[in-house]
Amino acid sequence: MTAIDPTTTAAWEALEAHDRELTGSMREWFADDPQRAERFSHAAADLHVDLSKNLLTAETVELLLQLAREVGVEERREAMFSGEHINTTEDRAVLHTALRRPVGSAPELEVDGQNIDRDVHETLRRVYDFASAVRSGQWTGVTGKRIETVVNIGIGGSDLGPVMVYEALKPLAQEGLAARFISNIDPTDAYATTEDLDPETTLVIVASKTFTTQETITNARLVRQWLLSGLRENAGLTAEQEQEAVAKHFAAVSTAIDKVEAFGIDADNTFGFWDWVGGRYSVDSAIGTVLATVLGPDNFEELLAGFHAMDEHFRTAPAEQNVPLLMGLINVWNVNFQGAETHAVLPYSQYLHRFPAYLQQLTMESNGKSVRWDGSLVTHDTGEVFWGEPGTNGQHAFYQLIHQGTRIVPADFIAFARPDHPLADGEQDVHELLLANFFAQTKALAFGKTAEEVRAEGTEGALVAAREFSGDRPTTSIMAPALTPAVLGQLIALYEHITFVQGVVWGINSFDQWGVELGKQLAKGLAGAVGGDEQAIAAEDSSTSALIRYYRSHRS
Ligand code: F6P
Repeated sequence: MTAIDPTTTAAWEALEAHDRELTGSMREWFADDPQRAERFSHAAADLHVDLSKNLLTAETVELLLQLAREVGVEERREAMFSGEHINTTEDRAVLHTALRRPVGSAPELEVDGQNIDRDVHETLRRVYDFASAVRSGQWTGVTGKRIETVVNIGIGGSDLGPVMVYEALKPLAQEGLAARFISNIDPTDAYATTEDLDPETTLVIVASKTFTTQETITNARLVRQWLLSGLRENAGLTAEQEQEAVAKHFAAVSTAIDKVEAFGIDADNTFGFWDWVGGRYSVDSAIGTVLATVLGPDNFEELLAGFHAMDEHFRTAPAEQNVPLLMGLINVWNVNFQGAETHAVLPYSQYLHRFPAYLQQLTMESNGKSVRWDGSLVTHDTGEVFWGEPGTNGQHAFYQLIHQGTRIVPADFIAFARPDHPLADGEQDVHELLLANFFAQTKALAFGKTAEEVRAEGTEGALVAAREFSGDRPTTSIMAPALTPAVLGQLIALYEHITFVQGVVWGINSFDQWGVELGKQLAKGLAGAVGGDEQAIAAEDSSTSALIRYYRSHRS
C-alpha cells in the first residue's frame, strides 16, 4: 500500500472548511440535541465510551470517517490482522492480535510458513505449566524453599506492560507470591528491589525481546551475582551447585533463544516469542510470564480474552460505531485541526496508576515519527504527547491548566462502576465520592462557567475573569462495570488500535522505533570518556566534555 499524504485528500480539505465553519459550543450542542450523549456513546465489548463531550458534530464524524476511507484504514487493518509485512522498515508482519486468538480459531493463521496459532498456544501452555509449578510449590528454589517473589528484569515493552498489569490486578495475586520489577540501568533499581529479598525464595525472569538490551543484561548479571552470593552466604551454596541454582532461580523470555542460552539460563525455563510482536505490543505474549505466574494462568487467559474481544470489535463493528476507529480519528481531529499537542489519560482508579506510563511507550514510540512508510516527510503534525496520573490526584496538581490554560488538552477519563475495595466513611460510600469527581470534571471542562454565572455568585471586578471557565475542552469518558482482567485487556487493545488508526491516517509505520537507536549507540561510544580516557573526553563537543569532567571531578 502506498502511503497517502492525508492533507491531499478531499476529506482533509473538507475537514479544514468544516473546522472554519463550525459554530456553537458544547452548551449549545447539548441543548439543541437532547440525544447528543446517546448519539455519540458506543459499546465496545464491556466498555461504555461517551464521545459526546468532544468538539464535534455528526458532520465532523462523517468527514473523519471519509478521511479513514480515503487513506485506507480498513485495508491496512486487514493487512495487519492477516500478517502482511506492514512493518515496512523492518520487513515484518505485525501480529500482536494473533497472541490472543482463542484455541481453535478458524481458519488457522499461517504466515510466512509459520503456523502462528499452534506456536502461540504451545508457548502459552509451557508458560502456564511453569506458572502452575511455581504457584503450587512444586517448583522450589535450589534449597527447596517455595518461591515467594518473582522479579521481572526488563525495560520498555518488557517492563511497562507487566508492571502496569500487575499493579492493575494486584488483588488477584496469589497469597504469599508477589512480583517486583527492575528496569533502570541506575544501579539503585537493582539494589533497592533486591535489598530486602531472600535469594532462596526469589525467582528471576529476564525479559528481553532482543536479549541485547544493555540495561536488562547488566541488571540480570547484577541480580545473578546478588543471588549466588546470597545463597553462598545464607545457604552454603558451593561452586558446583551454582549452575543448578541458576536453573532453579532464573527463567527468560526472548525471541533470541541462542543469546539466552549463552547467558546460562536453562532452555527448559526459556519462553519464546517472535519478531512479529513489537516490544510495546508484547504484554500478552510470553513477556507476561511474570503475570501468569503471580496472577495465575486463569486470570492471564481472561486478560487475553479481553484483548481478543476488542480485536473483534475493531475488526467487525461498523465504522460509525467502531470505538478504536472513532477515537483514533478524533485524536487526529484534535491534533491536526484543533492544535492539540498533548493528550491526557486520567484513570479514576488507583490500581491503574501505571496505565498512562504504559500508554506513553505504546503511543509515542509508535507514532512519534516524521516520515511516512515510503520514506517521504510528513507535512503535518503526528503523535501527540501522552501523559496522565490517576484522578483525583491530578485534580490537585495539573488540572488547572486543562481547565483554564491557553492550550487545548484532550483528555480520556476512565472509571469503573464497582470499587476494588468498597470502603465507607461513616454513611458515605467513598467510591461515590471518587465517581462524583469523575463526572464533575468532564462536565466542568465541557460546559465551563460563564461570567454571568460567576457574577451571580456575588463575584465582582477582575476576579470575575479569573473565575470564568471557557468550557469546550474536549474529553472522552470510558466506563466499565469493574477493573477485571478482561476489561483491562479490552482497554489495552483499545489503545493499541487507536494508535494504529492514527498511524495509518498519518501514513507512518507505527511499528518501528529507530528514534531510540542514536542515544543507545552514543552511550556505548562514551564509555571510554566516562571512564576517564582524557583523549576521548577532549574529542567530545565542549558541553559533553565539560559535563563528563564535572562527573569525574565529583565522583570520589
Ligand atoms: O529502546 C527501545 C526498545 O527497543 C523498545 O522498543 C523495547 O520495548 C525495549 O527497548 C526493550 O527491548 P528488549 O525487549 O529487546 O530488551
